[in-house]
Amino acid sequence: MAVGAATLPVRAGLGRRMSDAPVDRRGHALWGGRFEGGLSGEMEALNRSLDVDRRLWREDIRGSRAWAGALGRAGFLATDEVEEIARGLGVVEERLAGWGAGDFAAAPDEDIHSLVERLLTDTIGPLGGKLHTGRSRNDQVATDFRLWGREAIRRQGRLLAGLAEALAARAREHAGAVMPGYTHLQRAQPVPVGHWLLSRAWPLVRDLEHLVAVHRECDVLPLGAGALAGCPFPVDRAALAADLGFARISENSIDTVADRDWCARLVFGAAMTGVHLSQLAEDLVLFSTSEFGFVRLADGFTTGSSLMPQKRNPDVAELVRGKAGRLVGNLAALLTLLKGLPTGYNRDLQEDKETVFDAVDTLELVLPALAGAVHTMTVVRERTRAALDAGMLATDLADYLVRRGVPFRESHHAVGALVRLAEESGRPLDALATKEMQSVDARFEADAREVFDPDRSVASRDMHGGTSARALRRQLRALDSALAALALPV
Ligand code: ARG
Repeated sequence: MAVGAATLPVRAGLGRRMSDAPVDRRGHALWGGRFEGGLSGEMEALNRSLDVDRRLWREDIRGSRAWAGALGRAGFLATDEVEEIARGLGVVEERLAGWGAGDFAAAPDEDIHSLVERLLTDTIGPLGGKLHTGRSRNDQVATDFRLWGREAIRRQGRLLAGLAEALAARAREHAGAVMPGYTHLQRAQPVPVGHWLLSRAWPLVRDLEHLVAVHRECDVLPLGAGALAGCPFPVDRAALAADLGFARISENSIDTVADRDWCARLVFGAAMTGVHLSQLAEDLVLFSTSEFGFVRLADGFTTGSSLMPQKRNPDVAELVRGKAGRLVGNLAALLTLLKGLPTGYNRDLQEDKETVFDAVDTLELVLPALAGAVHTMTVVRERTRAALDAGMLATDLADYLVRRGVPFRESHHAVGALVRLAEESGRPLDALATKEMQSVDARFEADAREVFDPDRSVASRDMHGGTSARALRRQLRALDSALAALALPV
């Protein structure tokens, strides 16, 4: 059989179809008029996107219903034709609702748009062929994808808020517990456990702010842009937008069919979220080690070892950290895909969906798991407390002199000398006698030793954004109201 014949055997390795039976594609291609032969098997495999874009089937039907209505209002379809198409689409919808991956794999169609159109025509006859009037798959796919994206963005918003709320709930619970705060992963200054937890919630609030902007950008109607130059029939795009629930209408038909900026921004947001989740995950991996022991992940989120009976592995956090790689990879793939495109629709754009689907799927897997791990983990307060040492209050000791009018550079130097003295004599900083302190700087008095109290240190940082109990309560209120303000429509 010649390459290019319409009846093609399925090749092993190209592996897109489940069935081995040859598939006859004559009559299925949407652009058959000017072509004599069918596609080559190799091209067929490359061309086909149904296994990816089948996820858009509901949106394709919804968009098609709206388009039939628009053609009716434009006087191009009679009322009974619109009704018959709507009925047919209902039948197709019911049918597709029962389809599994294998059914889609066995379908001969190139993509979800050709599949829906074929099933419609099978159902209502040649009238089905009128639906594509004035419409192109270019504005159709842009519409389907935005309808899908809008819902995905809303789901993602709820999941992000869910994790931020889990962190806030645990922060409220452990507002009074103190732990070492770190810089360079060296013990730095004492902080409330709640403050650390909230430091991992605020990045998610920023992710939500970004997501709200992506939602706004996605919420624009492409339908009516045609292949690139618009539609010659007087369709009312405002009515179409209202019908499909889009807030705005695109302004330039060429831009409309090529614009995937909302996808790039969604995938960027997912990559950024992936980085944030990975950082939180890294904290959990580290803090759940025997060496730290600050947190203990619940049994439901840890695994054992097939070999070492004592093992308790933080797999949830490791998997979350690992998934960040693919989220960043999706962004690189999509931006690279877009960068060289000339004006108008280009078929490269078919590759947009996998990156977006994967970004959304990955976050839908990772966010609930991490929220569950945070909700159920135990914070081991004895361990966080035991990890504090007097050296972490060296800054407070320097501030003691500052309060007595000593320039900070001088007090920093004096405390540095005390730290050395303590180190050399193998004692903790708070074991130095007042006299020894005075030998370094006469302005130290007996009450200087009061700084060696981590609770007092934490309480003294009462500024907006600080560590005191009052500042923490205020922070929790701010987080609550930020989350409420950023809620997306359900
Ligand atoms: N499957 C295509 C996509 O995802 C649909 C649009 C095809 N348009 C075209 N002119 N071939 O972009």
